[in-house]
Amino acid sequence: MAPAEEPTAATLAPPPPHFVIVPLVAQGHTIPMVDLARLLAERGARASLVTTPVNSARLRGVADQAARAKLALEVVELPFPAGVDGLPPGIENVDQVTDNNHFIPLFNALQRLAGPLEAYLRGLAARPSCIVADWCNGWTAGVARSLGIPRLFFHGPSCFYSLCDLNSVDHGLHEQTAAASDQEKFVVPGMPVHVEVTKATAPGFLNSPGWEALWVECVEAMRTADGAVVNTFLDLEDQFVACYEAALGKPVWTLGPFCLANKDAEAMASRGNKTDAVQQSAVTAWLDTKDTDSVVYVSFGSLVRKLPKLLFEVGHGLEDSGKPFLWVVKEPEVAAPEVREWLEALEARTAGRGLVVRGWVPQLAMLSHRAVGGFVTHCGWNSLLESIAHGVPVVTWPHFADQFLNERLVVDVLGVGVAIGATAPVMIFDDENMPVGREDVVRAVAALMDGGAEADERRRKAKEYGEKAHRAMEKGGSSYENLTQLIESFRQRGGKEG
Ligand SMILES: *[C@@H]1O[C@H](CO)[C@@H](O)[C@H](O)[C@H]1NC(C)=O
Repeated sequence: MAPAEEPTAATLAPPPPHFVIVPLVAQGHTIPMVDLARLLAERGARASLVTTPVNSARLRGVADQAARAKLALEVVELPFPAGVDGLPPGIENVDQVTDNNHFIPLFNALQRLAGPLEAYLRGLAARPSCIVADWCNGWTAGVARSLGIPRLFFHGPSCFYSLCDLNSVDHGLHEQTAAASDQEKFVVPGMPVHVEVTKATAPGFLNSPGWEALWVECVEAMRTADGAVVNTFLDLEDQFVACYEAALGKPVWTLGPFCLANKDAEAMASRGNKTDAVQQSAVTAWLDTKDTDSVVYVSFGSLVRKLPKLLFEVGHGLEDSGKPFLWVVKEPEVAAPEVREWLEALEARTAGRGLVVRGWVPQLAMLSHRAVGGFVTHCGWNSLLESIAHGVPVVTWPHFADQFLNERLVVDVLGVGVAIGATAPVMIFDDENMPVGREDVVRAVAALMDGGAEADERRRKAKEYGEKAHRAMEKGGSSYENLTQLIESFRQRGGKEG
């Protein structure tokens, strides 16, 4: 018989805490949770990202990169529920939806992932330490409960937004706005600063007509969770973090900006869609020729599809602004031959000064380039935080969901944004009547990029927040230390036999 091996520190140490992460199948929700998984794994925890086949294919780059870096980060694939009423086959992500009527069936399909998720968890050698599920994945609450696994919810927006949302629910704001006219203004109750909304810009996820059952389930899941994880940092919005924690009555872990987990070009490129490396190096080479802080970067996130009328207003506005611009348009936006022709003519007229990219670019690589000095954004929280983390002030052009309140935070509270003047939400495939035109683009871009006392102050503040964001993520910084505490608190609780 071989002599027993001496026990080593490694064999005696308890296994690392295991976090099972369940993102919502939408780029804007998945990307920060991929970053979170990487952060956890880099700090010695084990992270399993749970998703469906179409979405896991998109994460292959993330998984490969993690494997090369020997990180305990894996992508777990659950089969996508078949035969869901009203959902065409193949649609597994919000960004594949081309008809507003397909959103609810997609969410109904996601609820049916509860069984496969439970089977996966029961099949593990040891119970995971914690489930971190997107706020919109309320269906995970029942699974966590039946297995006795602690659960945190991840809410994508800022604490400012989440506090507005929670206060609106707790103080009955939606009952008040129900009968109001479109223009009537309401003050969001219980906020430490004055925040006004209209019926249309009032906070709330999944709270349109038809979504009641899903919404109730998600709110219930929020109330029964063990805490919240938020992609923000204390120095950005400490008063709102404190108020949110008090209103929620449970710990709020501020661990961001998550995007700063991506330290190299490969990580920046792998977290989103597949990147065209040739296109990306051409874009970078073009930016290299431009002066510092001179280029305005224009991109409206993964969901917005501009109809030709509005696309033309953006293009003419950028042309008339006279500023160097890098504009990302989506393939479906420029699919029609007449739109393609129009765009080619615009590119010819602005050659050298403007660059139009079709498809997807790794946004972090753009925002961290020294030449990019402004960002025209739809105000998705990831985009805003990525911009702030890189010290880039913004033109705010909200479209829907949390974006109008994110705009209030960056323009009114943080002072790093210029509003373009969008006042009411548009549906994803219905921006025909958006009251924003080329003159608004020209005015806002000039205010952002032209210099002068206000513009300089905005840029100075953005750079200051950018430095604070980096400090928060370094050893000793608030987000870094909060992550340490989060991992430690689950090291003590987790690892029970399955
Ligand atoms: C995060 O860190 C701050 C101090 O840096 C602390 O006040 C806060 O309680 C921490 N959050 C949690 C949930 O422990």
